[in-house]
Amino acid sequence: MILEKEKNWWKDAAVYQIYPKSFYDSNNDGFGDIEGIRQKLPYIKSLGVDVVWVCPFFKSPQADNGYDVADYFEIDPIFGGNMEDLRNLIDDTHKLGMKFVLDLVANHTSDEHEWFQKALAGDEKYMNYYYFRDPVNGKAPSNWASVFGGGAWEYVPHLDKYYLHIFHKKQPDLNWENKEVVDEVINIMKHWAEYGVDGFRLDAINYLYKEPDFPSVEPMPGSEFGFGTEHYANKPKVNEHFNRLNREVFGPYNMMTVAEVAYINGDQARRYCGLEKPEVDMLYLFELLNFDQDGYDKFAPLPFDVKAFKEAVFGWQEEMKYFGHLALFFSNHDQARSVSRFGNDSDEYRDLSAKMHGNAMYMLKGTPYIYQGEELGMTSLDYTDVNDFHDVEVPFMWQEKVVEGGESPEKWIHLFNTRSRDGGRSPMQWDSSENGGFSKVTPWQKTNGNYTKINVELQEKDEKSPLNFYRQLLKVRKTLKSVIYGTVTPFDNDSDATFCYSRDFEDEQVISINNFKDYDVQVKLPQGRFNVVLSNYGDVTEIEDTVTLRPYEGITAVKI
Ligand code: GLC
Repeated sequence: MILEKEKNWWKDAAVYQIYPKSFYDSNNDGFGDIEGIRQKLPYIKSLGVDVVWVCPFFKSPQADNGYDVADYFEIDPIFGGNMEDLRNLIDDTHKLGMKFVLDLVANHTSDEHEWFQKALAGDEKYMNYYYFRDPVNGKAPSNWASVFGGGAWEYVPHLDKYYLHIFHKKQPDLNWENKEVVDEVINIMKHWAEYGVDGFRLDAINYLYKEPDFPSVEPMPGSEFGFGTEHYANKPKVNEHFNRLNREVFGPYNMMTVAEVAYINGDQARRYCGLEKPEVDMLYLFELLNFDQDGYDKFAPLPFDVKAFKEAVFGWQEEMKYFGHLALFFSNHDQARSVSRFGNDSDEYRDLSAKMHGNAMYMLKGTPYIYQGEELGMTSLDYTDVNDFHDVEVPFMWQEKVVEGGESPEKWIHLFNTRSRDGGRSPMQWDSSENGGFSKVTPWQKTNGNYTKINVELQEKDEKSPLNFYRQLLKVRKTLKSVIYGTVTPFDNDSDATFCYSRDFEDEQVISINNFKDYDVQVKLPQGRFNVVLSNYGDVTEIEDTVTLRPYEGITAVKI
């Protein structure tokens, strides 16, 4: 039985994530824009998704591609710059029966935001909107590292003070201990809720509270800095903030909320999902895909180990078994493309592994988040020049490792192609025309050279394409109650190739069986016969007992 409180519109929904800068350039200035998204809404709708999440498009100097907001009420000129475009986009999204989720960056602003500018001018009210601190023994208040390299404190000579930036120095952290800041954020949220937005993706939101004495930490090897996350990630005060946001905005406006969180454990995760008091609806966990790197260092890749994948994914399914809800994802704008990272991007296996990934991830318990181009099996990059990369991290790493460290440029270009955040940010591949049909002029970031092989136009015509598989997958998902509400039971997972689980609800049993390797592997199924409802090879109709999965094969089947 499904309890009434278990039913929420977003539980059986699927989300499509858009990185607006790289989605579709309607005015041919090299940048994707709001109107471009609106023009592609029929395509988005055709995938069978219910929610559109658009990464930040507010006024911004673009130091971190819009995650550095200079004005929460204005649209940046590169995205079209006018409010009418946004009105039309949201209205048309609604007309097509989809919801619109806004990406709200509230842990920090841009240094070009009016509040920070006033703070820099010495206005104490606004200095208290951020963390300005006196030097300690002539140095920064602590040795915390910035996520993007270097230290997390920036010195302002004319004030003789440092300010804190967990991210880039152009992203100063807001001081949530100041009630006025929280009031401001609530105003921003209410404004957009009234405007007609249906939900918020809450960026880096688990960092809202920092221990007030900013304790220094053990430095990383070869560095003076260390990530001080134990002093600022997922502190109990964050729950209090969420509770207030829920009471004043999320609840009254019936918003869907998804919190981006990292450095988290199961208890904290369940609490964020409202175990004790109302907080947020679901969690977008970094932990889900961190298993193929050394800790949080994406440039220290580990070979893809299916067992580690299983541990991470099934581990989190178990943590959220009775309480809480997860965002399911295989890629996003901060990750390299999954087909290259966890699959096989050769011509022979690319489509199969892209389809299998969908089959493996999106039959789990949670809400699928499909990132633009994932439905095509878009791949890692093929750039050869360091100047083709744009992400804030790249210059730091290049300087440290290649220029100063003397490491090989080829090694680092390869790492940037396969691991950097730019990997997921190359323009969407629409057709075989120049720039993949993204723009008629040179795009802000180079199109991947394989756009003539991998694009929407080609895949529309091919009924076995990843694109059409994703459509089918989302359709099938909606018809199966067990996929939304059922338990998750892994089975036959000893091998380091398979990823198999069963979803059970009332008298329905659904199994998802997947082979992550390029060789055959056998899987012993639960008892009974199963009717195949999804098959990435497209030639299997019924299975029972023991099945031999071919390279990158993925099947979803329902017990007869
Ligand atoms: C989140 C975003 C990322 C951004 C960071 C700082 O992790 O996904 O793109 O750089 O927050 O806002």
